[in-house]
Amino acid sequence: MSRCRRGWPPAPLPVVGDPGQVEQAVINLALNARDAMPDGGKVVLTTAPENVDDAYARSHPPMPTGLYTVLRVSDSGHGMPHETQLRIFEPFFTTKDVGKGTGLGLSMVYSTLKQIGGFIFVESEVNRGTTFRLFFSAGADTGGPPTRRRRRRCARTSGAATRRC
Ligand SMILES: Nc1ncnc2c1ncn2[C@@H]1O[C@H](COP(=O)(O)OP(=O)(O)OP(=O)(O)O)[C@@H](O)[C@H]1O
Ligand SMILES: [Mg+2]
Repeated sequence: MSRCRRGWPPAPLPVVGDPGQVEQAVINLALNARDAMPDGGKVVLTTAPENVDDAYARSHPPMPTGLYTVLRVSDSGHGMPHETQLRIFEPFFTTKDVGKGTGLGLSMVYSTLKQIGGFIFVESEVNRGTTFRLFFSAGADTGGPPTRRRRRRCARTSGAATRRC
């Protein structure tokens, strides 16, 4: 049996983005969490405002400073080795059996965030679980949707097993 816990703040938080796409992103993450826990486990979804200061922004380039709405989706599932983490945002990358996964779920989440100037980070440990953190721009001060210049600076990092938009 799986348990799902949600942690929402008392007042709604602003998110710059298309509601349908954001909803689809949450569904994709929840489905992945479910699939990672075939024998049951715990999924926790929380949202919180987070102020990205200079130090944090500098260690997560090209993330601008400012106020974000952060969605965390954590599961207690089978987790992923480092090599898998490096590839999860690639279109058609899947570790699921033939017919069980298209490998498009996370690449869609990544594209959605990229379009709206957000960022996604993953932390995972084999047999310990996985946490995705999605940083949604909460307003104009984080830059909103990416400019052409910021898009050019969009980079994939291998060391930190994260991919930034
Ligand atoms: N929460 C998670 N725990 C462990 N592995 C995960 C998790 N989320 C994603 N993955 C890994 O990332 C891969 C890619 O995920 P993605 O959602 O893009 O495709 P998929 O789930 O395999 O297929 P689809 O989403 O089309 O059903 C998965 O096959 C799995 O190996
Ligand atoms: Mg999926």
